[in-house]
Amino acid sequence: MSRIVFVNGAFVPFEQASIPIMDRGFLFADGIYEVSAVLNSRLVDNDAHLARLERSLAEIRIPNPYTREEWTRLEEELVRRNGLVEGVVYMEVTRGAAERDFAFPKDATPTVVMFTQAKVISRAPAAETGVAVISVPDLRWKRRDIKSVALLAQVLAKQAAAEAGVAEAWMVEDGHVTEGSSSTAFIITRDGRIVTRPLSNAILPGITRRAVMRLAAENGLVVEERLFTLDEAYGAAEAFYTSASAFVMPVVEIDGRAVGAGKPGPLTRRLRELYLAMAGATAEAA
Ligand code: PDD
Repeated sequence: MSRIVFVNGAFVPFEQASIPIMDRGFLFADGIYEVSAVLNSRLVDNDAHLARLERSLAEIRIPNPYTREEWTRLEEELVRRNGLVEGVVYMEVTRGAAERDFAFPKDATPTVVMFTQAKVISRAPAAETGVAVISVPDLRWKRRDIKSVALLAQVLAKQAAAEAGVAEAWMVEDGHVTEGSSSTAFIITRDGRIVTRPLSNAILPGITRRAVMRLAAENGLVVEERLFTLDEAYGAAEAFYTSASAFVMPVVEIDGRAVGAGKPGPLTRRLRELYLAMAGATAEAA
C-alpha cells in the first residue's frame, strides 16, 4: 500500500504529491508546522497541538485554512488511510505560492501539507536505556515560541548530535539551556525538584511539557519553572526531554558526563509511565 499524503485539499499517493517551486515555504521558510503523536491509531493531546498551530499561524498572519474540527477530521482520515497505529502526523501550512518577493503576496492561498510517519514511541528501546545528549550554542532567531519551519539552526544542532553519536542536542544561550533541538529540556535536582525553563519567546511552548508538568503536579511532585545552567544539568540527579515524538525520554549523559547514576532515574521513569497512561487513556477515549 502506497503512503497517502494530504496536499491542498486532496488525499493523494505520496509519489504524486507536489507543490510549486514558488511556494514561500520553500523560498523563505514562510510557514509553520505541527506534529501530533498517534498511539493505538488515535491522536494524543491533539487539541492542544491544534491550538498551538492556530497561534503560530496568527503570529505570522497566515489565515488558518481549517477549523479545529476540520483539522481533526483530516488528521483522523490520514491516519485511517495509512493504517497508522503508532507514530506521528505532520502538518504544515505555508503562505502559499507567489512570484518571489519578500513582503506578503496579495492573493496567495496557503499551502497545506500533511503526512504520517510510523514510529515506535511507547516501547522505544532508547527509553529503557536512556540517551546521551551534547550541548551546542543556540543559534536561533528571537521568536522560538512560533513553530516555524525555519529550522536550520536545529538541523545543524541535530547533525552535530548525529556526528557525536548521540540522540539530541541541548541548545545553550547566555550559559543557560534553552531547549533541545526538537524537544523540551528538563533536569531533576538532588532534592527531587523537576526543573524546566519558563515559557517565553526563547523556547517553543511544548505540548508534552505542559502535560508532564500537569501530571507531575497532580501526583504531588514539585515542578520549578526557572532557568538552569549547563553546569547545573551536569550535576543534576536526573535529566530528560519531552516531545510529541519521544514522550518522556531519559537523558543519562550530557557532553560525555554521566547524569546521576548514568541510567534512567526513578522520577523520570515515573513521569514516563504517567505520560504513557495518560496518552493511552486519551487515545482510547477519543
Ligand atoms: N518538535 N522544542 C522544540 C524546538 C521542538 O521542535 C519541539 C517539538 C519541542 C517539543 O514540543 P511538543 O512537546 O509539543 O512536541 C520543543 C517536534 C516533535 C518536531 O519538530 O518534530
